[in-house]
Amino acid sequence: MWIWAIRRSLEGKIPYVSAISSRMDSRNIRKINYFSPFIVIVTSLKPTSLLITGCAGFIGSNLCRKLLDSGYTVIGLDNFDPYYAPSIKKRNLQPLLAHPGFIFHETDVTDESSLEQLPLGNLPELVVHLAAKVGVRSSFEHPDSYHHTNLTGTRRVVEWMMRRGISKLVFASSSSVYGDTKNLPFMEDDPLSVPISPYAASKAACEAYNRSMHLEKGLDVINLRFFTVYGPAQRPDLAIHRFLSAMKHGEEIALYGDGHSTRDYTYVEDVVAGIESAIRLLQETKGVCQSINLGSGRPVALNEMIALLGEISGYDPVIRHEDSQQGDLENTFASLEKAGRWLGYQPTTPFREGIQKFVEWFEANPLWEPTETGS
Ligand SMILES: NC(=O)c1ccc[n+]([C@@H]2O[C@H](COP(=O)([O-])OP(=O)(O)OC[C@H]3O[C@@H](n4cnc5c(N)ncnc54)[C@H](O)[C@@H]3O)[C@@H](O)[C@H]2O)c1
Repeated sequence: MWIWAIRRSLEGKIPYVSAISSRMDSRNIRKINYFSPFIVIVTSLKPTSLLITGCAGFIGSNLCRKLLDSGYTVIGLDNFDPYYAPSIKKRNLQPLLAHPGFIFHETDVTDESSLEQLPLGNLPELVVHLAAKVGVRSSFEHPDSYHHTNLTGTRRVVEWMMRRGISKLVFASSSSVYGDTKNLPFMEDDPLSVPISPYAASKAACEAYNRSMHLEKGLDVINLRFFTVYGPAQRPDLAIHRFLSAMKHGEEIALYGDGHSTRDYTYVEDVVAGIESAIRLLQETKGVCQSINLGSGRPVALNEMIALLGEISGYDPVIRHEDSQQGDLENTFASLEKAGRWLGYQPTTPFREGIQKFVEWFEANPLWEPTETGS
């Protein structure tokens, strides 16, 4: 069924009526302008084009699939960074490559000339910048490469956008920017304490850079702070995936700390829904510069997570206790008040249900072996 919405054209101040299908997103379909009650002009049948960096990764591949389903055209960039097996990323990409609305370029976002040479017929309206060096622990061993990929990479992407006249950015930030604060839940407008890893420092610096580009160059930006995302295609270095794999193979789980630390685990489909809302907000609004949490708002203790994984998978966890690790936060807990107010964000996947779906996916994808790195 069709819903009719009356709007005012921003440029020409010409009143028009746009036809919006309730099945599809308002931005990807036909827009019909009525310059007079008697003349109907179809102005655009082209779907909105978005550029997603880091599209072959965990969140990127889930996001691209959802955006394609919503009717967007997606241009994806990735360099198959070797932090974890590039074969996993290539597998994530396969179903996307089969979609007519998806175009992929193997590109390193830190390489200015590669970005410049991207053959883009249809310029993207907006960029979602997910590409990054990930993993807290590895950032202590390779701080230069985290600085280069995350900071220089973000700067290159934003500079490229500016040269192309693209002024809307969704940036993948992280709960790690809150540092080891004791103020729970984490509120976006509280002053940030000191980040406690090179990875966290790089994300905090990117947020600061994006804010400066908002003030000086008119970049509209939403820095989304993700909280321990899990679900199908989860990175093999992240705890839920690593622990389940260890249990399945009868190996010990190295548990850092006493197991009482908590994480605000967030199901990937909820995060993707939040990103899509941020895209919509930027499309509809000018002058935006906000940092917004995307979490579940329901922290779970490490011990509880392991017990649930064991219960649902049927594998017995064998735990080896180790000291807490450098860079690990004691607790993460997202306030969702701002995400609700700005994005209408409301996570809908209970932890038990999300773990059930993850275990099902894990069992159906037996070749995806985890690594020992990461957090
Ligand atoms: N997964 C989480 O729990 C979580 C939490 C907080 C923040 N984040 C952020 O979300 C984003 C996506 O994370 P993810 O978990 O999907 O990680 P991921 O490693 O699965 O995805 C990142 C992708 O970026 C690509 N990439 C890395 N360097 C690149 C470069 N120079 N040029 C082009 N592509 C490059 C990688 O190959 C990878 O496919 C990252 O920015 C990460 O810091 C993730």
